[in-house]
Amino acid sequence: MAGNPAVGRAAVSAAVNPDRLWQRHLAIARIGATGRGGVNRQALTPGDAAARRQVLAWAAARGFAASVDAIGDLFVRRPGTDPAAAPVVSGSHLDTQPTGGNFDGIFGVLAALEVLEAAEEGHIATARPLELVIWTNEEGARFQPTTMGSAVFAGALPLDTALDTADGQGVTVRAALAETLAATPVASRRPFGFPIAAYVEAHIEQGPILEATGMTIGVVTGIQGLRWFRVEVTGEEAHAGTMPLARRRDALVAAIEMVHGLRELTADPTDTVRFTVGRFEVQPNSPNTVPGRVLFTVDLRHPDRQVLARLGDRVEAVCRAQARGCAVEVVETLSSPPTAFSGVVMDLIRAAADRHAMPHADIVSGATHDAKHLAGLCPTGMIFVPCERGVSHNETERAAPADLAAGARVLADVLVELANR
Ligand code: GLV
Ligand code: MN
Ligand code: MN
Repeated sequence: MAGNPAVGRAAVSAAVNPDRLWQRHLAIARIGATGRGGVNRQALTPGDAAARRQVLAWAAARGFAASVDAIGDLFVRRPGTDPAAAPVVSGSHLDTQPTGGNFDGIFGVLAALEVLEAAEEGHIATARPLELVIWTNEEGARFQPTTMGSAVFAGALPLDTALDTADGQGVTVRAALAETLAATPVASRRPFGFPIAAYVEAHIEQGPILEATGMTIGVVTGIQGLRWFRVEVTGEEAHAGTMPLARRRDALVAAIEMVHGLRELTADPTDTVRFTVGRFEVQPNSPNTVPGRVLFTVDLRHPDRQVLARLGDRVEAVCRAQARGCAVEVVETLSSPPTAFSGVVMDLIRAAADRHAMPHADIVSGATHDAKHLAGLCPTGMIFVPCERGVSHNETERAAPADLAAGARVLADVLVELANR
């Protein structure tokens, strides 16, 4: 018997230790620290393995068992009183952008661990197990696409496709994962898609809305849709001093015009469309050679499925229209429709925030998250807390210790409630 659920959730929430939560953020921030306040701890690097080892050490100190699936998603379990019951799962990711901050992903991992710790310290049993998950390669910076581990777990991406993916140096996920798993030995194997009763992920907002409106808790209603494209423009290398402009096939000039065309396509007076060219590689990248090849990426997002479809379907044509004699290849590398979260989980988050007298508001996630893949498997939701000036994917990313603690308390409340249903 798990006891009175209301008493249980209140006790676990009260046992959340803000200082431990903050100190753990500082400890993880040292792993892969860049010296400029941020971290470079990209997926399946030695830094990622070191961060996983640290979390495993904290889990082992409590006697929590760990398990791992074939894409490296890592689970830490606090058993429930009903051994047959599916777990309630919470977590996020430890990998970062190349110039990442100390909260994106890390907060969701440490907040979930804090809930398991608080339940243990408070001697509060739950009917269902509580599990922490660390998803592999959420960021998609080193290996594309983003949210790789949760996509494979949910059956949205074949395992072999993920394993065969290579980074810019030709290192495959298969090879990097083998090194990571060797450095973080976990004996117990988990199947993909095992039954999960509910999934709740805590995260910093990564945008400016909560801070600007004075809210402590964001009740995430869903995640906007996302499409990624890889555009390769092939022209002809030539001597910068001798080849007349009219006879050139300059891949860079063509690519710049393509980006201009895409900016016109995505211009939006309501500022709802998100359009980003985040990678732009020029070859041979020499001052006196006409560029023969350019590779760039397009990240396109919108909360409305139809708008995203209409704009995304025009990307290739807009690029081709600016080819200027170059060959153009446009490949869509990710298509992720808008996700709606569970009304039940949203109601639990609102009720928990009300009980704690924390100002809260509904919010759509502009960033993508592993939770989108879980939403097709079980009731799923997310809890946001504010971050300074809304800045994220930046070494100066900051979140206030009090807001992190508030988010962890609401998470505790919601997870324990779900684990006793
Ligand atoms: C995840 O970091 C995203 O790109 O939204
Ligand atoms: Mn994240
Ligand atoms: Mn991120």
